[in-house]
Amino acid sequence: MLHRLEEQSPDALLALIKLHAADDRPDKVDLGVGVYRTGQGDTPVFGAIKAAEQSLVDEQESKSYLGPEGDIGFVNALMPYIFGEDATMGGRIAGMQTPGGTGAVRLALALAQKAGVQKLHMGVPSWPNHAQIINDIALEMVPFDHANPDGTANVEAALAAIRHAGPDEAILLHGCCHNPTGIDYSAEEWNAIGDAIAESGIFPIIDTAYHGLGNGLDEDVAGLRSVLAKVPEAFIAYSCDKNFGMYRDRVGAFYILADGGETLDKAFSNANALARASWSMPPDHGAAAVRLILRDGSLTQMWMDELDQMRERMRQVRATLADAGMAGSVDLTPLGTQNGLFSVLPVSKEQVAQLREDHGIYMAGSGRINVAGLTMNNIEKFIEAVAEVTG
Ligand code: LMR
Repeated sequence: MLHRLEEQSPDALLALIKLHAADDRPDKVDLGVGVYRTGQGDTPVFGAIKAAEQSLVDEQESKSYLGPEGDIGFVNALMPYIFGEDATMGGRIAGMQTPGGTGAVRLALALAQKAGVQKLHMGVPSWPNHAQIINDIALEMVPFDHANPDGTANVEAALAAIRHAGPDEAILLHGCCHNPTGIDYSAEEWNAIGDAIAESGIFPIIDTAYHGLGNGLDEDVAGLRSVLAKVPEAFIAYSCDKNFGMYRDRVGAFYILADGGETLDKAFSNANALARASWSMPPDHGAAAVRLILRDGSLTQMWMDELDQMRERMRQVRATLADAGMAGSVDLTPLGTQNGLFSVLPVSKEQVAQLREDHGIYMAGSGRINVAGLTMNNIEKFIEAVAEVTG
């Protein structure tokens, strides 16, 4: 029977990790998968996480099951950071823990589909796994252009998609630090998007996987909050994999905004049932560590300081790239104002391959780079290589 299966190519981003690992050139540069790196090129465990993990080892009394919703203390502790002071928006938001942001996106899309959504509008390019999940659950995807060629957000395309949407349609938006372009909507654009969603009735799903890595914890969710303030219902997929450095521990959350307690309870019960049928219960360890951090003032401060340092370093890398201006045919200036880990260089697949083969520089085939892979030791080499390959 199994011979009937068609061979699948490995996920291109994840395949890049192996390709890079197999390269023995000492000056190779990894700009592939989205993990933060320090100025020394490392991805260390956060100090706040280490401390919380130690407390878990010392104090956790049981590893008995929690249920499909996972660690609700973790889910609730995150809420003020995402939704603000009125963290439940008057009792209209409830959430559950998920295996990473991917689990949250999967649950959001599957629940939207269960509620009757048939078409999903999505700005492209997007995180490649969005399309894979959409395809896997057989939702129809309607693409619109996320960005203009000049590196600004194409808000008109998003607004047109929203305004022309029929009933039973949803839109997937990136809350901040757009993956892969780094191009986010401005406050005015988020406002217009919120107004248009409220008017058209399209169902908003907001994926927030890089909270705190763009401009700050409050700044990065200002757009999301402005949309939620205007709409009756929404889903929010949230990841702690980057902003707590928990990657392989898979720490995420899924939140539902509904217009009334009864609807919220009903939607939540469906999310629970879908989670139970998918992964039964999320892995506990990482979420428990995040809960301990957010319940302890000094650990919270330590986490925020570590997040500030990450953001600051990425800003410095971006400023250095922007100052370089042109590298061959590539204008690096827009990277200075883009946000988060990623930006896309206008390079061809052949040029991406040449950068890898001739210079040991690894980036996604789309031209996406992880700016955190650049350090003061390799940034000149990177700029010169881009100039050589595209010049
Ligand atoms: C990325 O886009 O590199 C990250 O979100 C990691 C992943 O799972 O793809």
